[in-house]
Amino acid sequence: MNISNRREFLKFLGASGITLSQLGAISSLTSCSELFTKSRFPNSDDNLVLIDGLKYYPLISWNDPINAKETFGFNNDFITYKTISNNELIMWVNHEYANPIFVSGIERTKENIDLERRAVGGSIIKVQKKDGKWSFIPNHELNRGVRADTKIPFANNVEVMGTNITDGTCSNCAGGFTPWGTFLTCEENSDKNYGERDKSTGKMLPTRFKWEDFYPNPIEHYQWVVEIEPETGKAQKHINLGRFAHESATTIISKSNHVVVYSGDDKEDEHVYKFVSKTKTDFNEGVLYVADLENSKWLPLDLELSPELKKHYKDHVELMINTREAAKILGATKLNRPEDIEVHPHTGDVYISLTKNGKRGDYYGQILKIAETSADHSALTFKSETFLMGGELNKFACPDNLAFDKNGNLWFASDISGDKIGTNKYQAFGNNGLFVVPTKGDHAGEVIQIASAPKDAEFTGLSFSPDQKSLFLSVQHPGELTTDLNKPTSKWPSGKTPKPTVVVIEGDFLENLTKNNV
Ligand code: FEO
Ligand code: CA
Ligand code: CA
Repeated sequence: MNISNRREFLKFLGASGITLSQLGAISSLTSCSELFTKSRFPNSDDNLVLIDGLKYYPLISWNDPINAKETFGFNNDFITYKTISNNELIMWVNHEYANPIFVSGIERTKENIDLERRAVGGSIIKVQKKDGKWSFIPNHELNRGVRADTKIPFANNVEVMGTNITDGTCSNCAGGFTPWGTFLTCEENSDKNYGERDKSTGKMLPTRFKWEDFYPNPIEHYQWVVEIEPETGKAQKHINLGRFAHESATTIISKSNHVVVYSGDDKEDEHVYKFVSKTKTDFNEGVLYVADLENSKWLPLDLELSPELKKHYKDHVELMINTREAAKILGATKLNRPEDIEVHPHTGDVYISLTKNGKRGDYYGQILKIAETSADHSALTFKSETFLMGGELNKFACPDNLAFDKNGNLWFASDISGDKIGTNKYQAFGNNGLFVVPTKGDHAGEVIQIASAPKDAEFTGLSFSPDQKSLFLSVQHPGELTTDLNKPTSKWPSGKTPKPTVVVIEGDFLENLTKNNV
């Protein structure tokens, strides 16, 4: 909507006199004057600021003990859960990276790096709703961490770089949940911990976190999708889903009964992938495809289906290790940092955040929509279009994490990087935010900001409770730019050292938006 349309819309809404609590579904929106007039966005406060009609409380924060030996890790990201009942969940939370100034110390000693390795990966926590409030249960027998020092095998006894066993998981960004009830966690920027391999020399390049000084692990053991059993924490890495900066692993069963996993490679000029499994019960056999948007088709990263790849790779394992390179050989479309992906619960359309690409002059990003042919997620052709452009007209920049509510409203969070928030091209947007946008009806595509993050933070891991009355949300990296612990750039949530925290968001706004029959 352009500015004059927005003014008209607000004028119309302003005359309606209907209150927020009467809002109902945005998808059939006829009135939301209060929503716009009472919202205080954009916002630059060091706080989690919510639109009227919503409130929040913390569920768990970094360093909270989850059992006698382990604490909740740093930088909580993706959230998913296995449902035991409406009020009882086994929850998985990713911990993307450990900021040394808070977790360990900036000196690159083995002791400090060991602390960081125990603060990343993910946590399994038992959560329950009691007396109307969600809480996690400390010391529950299911609570455990899966960390950078947890030995994890490749599925199906596959060996990579001469071994089947990897040294843990790290850089766990987003993920997914399988139809058979296991968690998927995606290894994104593991090259920042272990280094990328220099193709010409075969050596590993130095990293920001310097883990390689004490743990010279091959990068080929990382940037995979890891599957975790909720009840045991048993983990395995799947080579069939490819190796790249995996943002997410969004899983759905196609009309033709295959399990399909969509995943973005979060780097400038990288690609969007989907894995189509032979069955709907495992990832053991199938084909990984990469998107060619120019020709509206999925290109198979498979030695038999794309025989030109045989010139470059001796077998399937070598091909999967080099997924990015193989995608380029086939002519895959370069995209502007493809991050989170979600499937519309009613139409089956696939929504993809393209966060930004400064190299190509795209500072604000967009949300791309792919409609698979015949709405079959196994299809090899599709149509694509821009669903929503970032920028000042739509009042958001750099879309990243996505979630649909059951009425098909798209919720998304922005990820303007900490050092860019409030500067130059990003001045108008304030801190990172949480937004909701209807995907149908007269007001489809109109963006409403409903929350603003504390300083330097982004919202991640959007996950609705089974009854959709609560939204679990990660507040990641508040105070990320801190260089002096005595002067942290954020003091959220406690007024002292900032702490990444999972919060629960509830209120009339959410209940109205997600109630039945709207
Ligand atoms: Fe971990 Fe692409 O965000
Ligand atoms: Ca992200
Ligand atoms: Ca998501």
